Amino acid sequence: MNGATPTRRVHIAEVVTRDGFQSEAQFIPTADKIALIDRMSRAGYAAIEVSSFTSPKAIPMLADADTVFAGISRNPAVEYLALVPNLRGAERALAARTDAFNLVMSISEAHNQANLRMSREQSFAQLQEVIALAAAHQTPVNVSLSTSFGCSLAGWVDPDEVMRWAIRFADLGVRGISLCDTTGMADPAAVEALCARAVAAFPQLQITAHFHNTRGMGLANVVTALQAGIRHFDASLGGLGGCPYAPGATGNICTEELVHMLDLMGYDTGMDLPLLLESAALLERLVGRTIPSQLLRAGPVPVRASA
Ligand code: COA
Ligand code: ZN
Repeated sequence: MNGATPTRRVHIAEVVTRDGFQSEAQFIPTADKIALIDRMSRAGYAAIEVSSFTSPKAIPMLADADTVFAGISRNPAVEYLALVPNLRGAERALAARTDAFNLVMSISEAHNQANLRMSREQSFAQLQEVIALAAAHQTPVNVSLSTSFGCSLAGWVDPDEVMRWAIRFADLGVRGISLCDTTGMADPAAVEALCARAVAAFPQLQITAHFHNTRGMGLANVVTALQAGIRHFDASLGGLGGCPYAPGATGNICTEELVHMLDLMGYDTGMDLPLLLESAALLERLVGRTIPSQLLRAGPVPVRASA
């Protein structure tokens, strides 16, 4: 961090309608997805990952990505992203006027094969074409490196390998890279080490941390990522989430719990916590079961008298 005072501003990207919904069993109607996104658009997010332009056979829940994009009311302060796994998805995302692409590739060869049915080299070759297409349309690109902290199929993942792939994508001129703990295997020590390396190696890139709370380490990982200089986080309303192609994967860190913690720590999230809690209550009605959010049950702690 070169001795400069690190900024207290933290940028949050909401992933519930993509990462959250893709692992729900019961189809959520398109109109409900649009209503939830429109409500969240007023909550102060930097970005909302609206949906995913994947094969509708692979992820039936997100088959309506095009209709959802067409139906939402866009707040100019929010970036509306989509997950893009291949060239076909990129063309659909451009037609839907997606603000930015979130490309995906796994560091684990086994997970890449399970999720995308390609080797990592095949993915990289396709994504190279997608990045060129995005550049021709002035569309910023983020690359999500799945299983950066471990993989439920392959086990331990070598941080050197994460850095090698990050360098290859950085060389293609992407705007940012997400270090994704797809299966909730990151611990604070591993997070601090990898995040500090990435922040030092890529001062020009937006580095995002994407954590799942599968083993209860999610918010502890956020605190160490903050210490390592990370200021962009993905989170999912209510703590929904998981990858359908990773056995045992469960929810992302919960947005309202993340914002609540960061507010208490004196970070500036720009987020409206009461609106988030209302949105989480609506989400619970939409999915028809108790969602993981502990904050929704307990309520926020009272504001301190002299913070
Ligand atoms: N959008 C819509 N349809 C697509 C598509 C896309 N982006 N990519 C492929 N398809 C369709 C093809 O048209 C084809 O349809 P058909 O059977 O009617 O001819 C079918 O999907 C298979 O196409 P193919 O090129 O052989 O792809 P594949 O079966 O190897 O699948 C992926 C590749 C990446 C599209 C698919 O594995 C996928 O969507 N995986 C899900 C990834 C994901 O979102 N995971 C969770 C998030 S990390
Ligand atoms: Zn995820």
